[in-house]
Amino acid sequence: MAKIAPSILGADFGHLAEEIHDTVRVGADWLHLDIMDGHFVPNISFGPSIVKTIDNLTDKFLDVHLMLSEPEKYFEPFVKAGADSITFHIEVHPQPMKFLEIIKNLGVKTGLSLNPDTDIEKVLPYLEYADFLLIMSVFPGFGGQEFIEKSLERITVAKKYIISNNLKTKVAVDGGINGENAAQVVTAGADVLVIGSAFFKSSDRYALTKKVQSL
Ligand code: DX5
Ligand code: ZN
Repeated sequence: MAKIAPSILGADFGHLAEEIHDTVRVGADWLHLDIMDGHFVPNISFGPSIVKTIDNLTDKFLDVHLMLSEPEKYFEPFVKAGADSITFHIEVHPQPMKFLEIIKNLGVKTGLSLNPDTDIEKVLPYLEYADFLLIMSVFPGFGGQEFIEKSLERITVAKKYIISNNLKTKVAVDGGINGENAAQVVTAGADVLVIGSAFFKSSDRYALTKKVQSL
């Protein structure tokens, strides 16, 4: 039973409230909110005020993905805005323990993410301190990119480590996922699929949601 987390980056921002309500209508599990600073990634998205707006529209679990060079500056503002989990990248904090602890102490779930070109072995020692591992299956910055096939092996390596060490960490995968490759991603070991453009462009969001949840 995989979870689906529509990435709001793929939504029509001109009709944001309707888009959020539609994710509720179809029974999506989480909402994935991509925060970009134009520095860690070559794009800028939105900040705490939009997260607050979304939080006021729904009770859904808000999974906040910080693609920021100094994520720690924004842990508290995003928690105050309604984040239920905060994920940051190991590339900016190769020793992430202290930051995972800060997030935990703010009372929300913790997530650690890594880019497609970062060695998966680098995150393994920290998984016991994180609720979620977010494996990027595209280079972060933009929605609508193609899934990087090599991510499948990385998902499996992480999942095997989690199982053999008896950890509770959930594996989320982000980038280029759609109705066609979702099953492969779950078979490789994903617990949560972040889906942006394929969800919001789908002609049948309900069917896509049920399909992912049945995997
Ligand atoms: C990429 C973001 C993703 C993205 C996913 O930088 O972290 O969450 O919005 O979108 P799709 O599913 O279109 O790849
Ligand atoms: Zn994301």
